[in-house]
Amino acid sequence: MLLLHLTDQDEAGWAERLRAALGDYPVVRRGDRFDPAEVRYILVWKPKPDAFEGLDHLELVLSMGAGVDALLKHPGLPDVPLVRFVDEDLTQRMTDYVVAQVTMHHRLHSRFQADQKARRWTQLYPPAAGETTVGIMGLGVLGQDAARRLVPLGFAVRAWSRTPKSVAGVEAFVGTEQFDAFLAGTDILVNLLPLTPETTGILCMETFRKLRRKLDGGPAIVNAARGGHQREADIVAALADGTLGAASLDVFETEPLPGDSPLWDIANCYITPHIAAISNPETGTTYFSQIIAEHEAGKPLRNVVDRGRGY
Ligand code: NDP
Ligand code: OXD
Repeated sequence: MLLLHLTDQDEAGWAERLRAALGDYPVVRRGDRFDPAEVRYILVWKPKPDAFEGLDHLELVLSMGAGVDALLKHPGLPDVPLVRFVDEDLTQRMTDYVVAQVTMHHRLHSRFQADQKARRWTQLYPPAAGETTVGIMGLGVLGQDAARRLVPLGFAVRAWSRTPKSVAGVEAFVGTEQFDAFLAGTDILVNLLPLTPETTGILCMETFRKLRRKLDGGPAIVNAARGGHQREADIVAALADGTLGAASLDVFETEPLPGDSPLWDIANCYITPHIAAISNPETGTTYFSQIIAEHEAGKPLRNVVDRGRGY
C-alpha cells in the first residue's frame, strides 16, 4: 500500500494520478480508513510530527521534494531508504530560473532600472557573456544542468562541489581548500547546494567579500536552494554598502518571507516566493510509480539519499 502525506499540496490530485498509474496497487490518503501496518511506501511533503506512526512495515520513504534537509530532521523518520525527487521537468524549470537571473545580472538590470527611474540616459555597455564568470555552488543534478545551459550562452562557467565533478566547458573547484579561489573569479554566484551543516549560512558577508569585483555595481548572488544557506542580515548590509550589486532570492530563512523583512524594499533584491522549480504532479506520478514498480521487481533503487552526507 502507498500512503500519501502531502501537506500544502493537492493530495487528492496526486492520489488520483497515482491510482491511475499504479493500477491495482492500493493508494490511500491520510483521512482514509486503512491499516497502517499495510503501508509499504509513503510519499511525503512537509510531513506532520505523527506522519510515520504505526507504519511498522514501511519499506521506502519517497520525498516529493528534491531537497531533503527538513525531512532528515523529522524526529520520527524511520530507518528505511529515502528516495528523493529527481526529475527532468523540475531540473529544466530550475535552469530556466537560473538563466533568467544570471542574464538579468549580466546585462546590469539593476543599473538600468535605477537609470530609468531617474530618467537618466547613460550608455554603459554591459560586458560580453564571455567576460562574465558565473560560479555555481553545487554541481549535482541541478548545478550540472544549469552549467550545461549557461556554457552555450557564452558565459565563463566555474563550479564548486564537495568531490571532483567534470562538466565540459566548466572549470571545476573542489572542497573547502578551493572555495576562496572559486569565489575570487566569480562575478555571479549561483547557489544550488543542498542544506547541510557544512553549507548552512554559506551566503554570508565573508563569502560576498571574496567575490570578484569586476561587474559594474558589484557581484551578484542567486540563491535557488534553501533559505538556511543565506544570512539575510548580511545580504541587506552587502546590498547597502555595495559589497553586492544585486541579489536574486527564491528561498528565505523564514517562509513565507515576513512582511516586515527589509529585503522586500531593496530595489536590487529580486524576490520570488520559492517557485524556482516545482514538483510537477504529472512527471512526479511517472517518477514515483516507476520507483515503486522497480522496487517491487527487486531492481536497485535510484536517487537514494545518503543520510551520512545529508543529501
Ligand atoms: P544534488 O544532491 O544532486 O547535488 C548537490 C551538489 O552539492 C553536489 O555537487 C554536491 O557535491 C554539492 N555539495 C554538497 N555539499 C557540499 C559541500 N559541503 N561543499 C561543496 N559542495 C557540496 O542536489 P540537486 O542538484 O538535485 O539539488 C540541490 C538543492 O536545490 C536541493 O538540495 C534543494 O535544496 C534545492 N532545490 C530548490 C528548489 C526550489 O524551488 N527553490 C527546487 C528543487 C531543489 P558532490 O557532487 O561532491 O556530491
Ligand atoms: C524541492 C523544493 O526541494 O521545491 O523540491 O524546494
